[in-house]
Amino acid sequence: MAYSNKVIDHYENPRNVGSFDKDEAGVATGMVGAPACGDVMKLQIKVNNQGIIEDAKFKTYGCGSAIASSSLVTEWVKGKSLDEAQLIKNTDIAQELALPPVKIHCSILAEDAIKAAIADYKQKQGS
Ligand code: FES
Ligand code: FES
Repeated sequence: MAYSNKVIDHYENPRNVGSFDKDEAGVATGMVGAPACGDVMKLQIKVNNQGIIEDAKFKTYGCGSAIASSSLVTEWVKGKSLDEAQLIKNTDIAQELALPPVKIHCSILAEDAIKAAIADYKQKQGS
């Protein structure tokens, strides 16, 4: 399968790989798996006390498109409020990376991961 240049770029130079200490203030974690292929994505956000995501990191055990999708999402969420980050759609990711139809679920994984991280943050805040 031919990957787009953007996928290859994010795959070869993934942004924001790594993790935060999950107990650090403002850190929340989203961990999701894709039933279709068994890939797993962990995405973490670090939210400041103005409710802005100031940093994000990911670890993805999966295909190039999943890695590229999570790399892209960590770039997109930085500087966004939680409400803004909540609006990121897998279709935006798939379009930006020009993912082929069989790789759409990889971008869904990234959307699910950011939503899971936001939900974890809200739960930790008790809201
Ligand atoms: Fe997910 Fe290839 S099927 S890594
Ligand atoms: Fe399953 Fe990419 S996440 S093939």
